Amino acid sequence: MDKYWFTYDDIHRTVRDLAGRVKASGFETDAIVAIGSGGYIPARILRTYINKPIWAVGISYYDENDNPTDNPRKMQWIDEVERKLAGKRILLVDEVDDSRTTLEYCIRELLSHKPAEVAVAVLHNKRKEKRGTLPPEVTRYFTGLDIEDRWVKYPWDAVDIDEQDANAAAARTRA
Ligand code: G4P
Ligand code: MG
Repeated sequence: MDKYWFTYDDIHRTVRDLAGRVKASGFETDAIVAIGSGGYIPARILRTYINKPIWAVGISYYDENDNPTDNPRKMQWIDEVERKLAGKRILLVDEVDDSRTTLEYCIRELLSHKPAEVAVAVLHNKRKEKRGTLPPEVTRYFTGLDIEDRWVKYPWDAVDIDEQDANAAAARTRA
């Protein structure tokens, strides 16, 4: 089964489209919350279109002894960020909505700090049955691109960026 290969330019265009949808909806973002690490680069590009502060949070699937865990844990949830959430309209950004487990976990954590509203913006949503659910408090959900349930190769994971771009070009020719 083919993978999706995206270049940084592809990502930038998808973020542009995503930002366009957020703006068109009338959602007034107070702050962008980026879920690390995949959400960091999309969040920064998004700020070019929606110029609001970025608050970064990290999620880990490893415990303090570096053993893998079944459930995500909070990492780098700075007290100051948690205090600031109250009453704010948050745009939660991640690169991919896959099983939705991480996303659900993050949304629930954010909601516990009483933001005014939480909207979710993901670069890529895989069309599939999800294990996680979006809590009813989430009033808006935006995607840059809805894709099939296939593995995505992101440019920031590439050790050889030229090879990444070549694979992306080859995939475009096949499509
Ligand atoms: P979700 O709630 O956003 O759907 O995430 P899920 O828990 O299903 O995903 C677990 C990890 O797998 C996440 O990374 C997610 O980014 C990554 N992932 C899922 N599908 C793909 C894919 O097609 N391509 C790539 N490259 N990664 C994928 P994470 O543990 O948060 O790590 P990080 O890479 O964001 O630091
Ligand atoms: Mg991620």
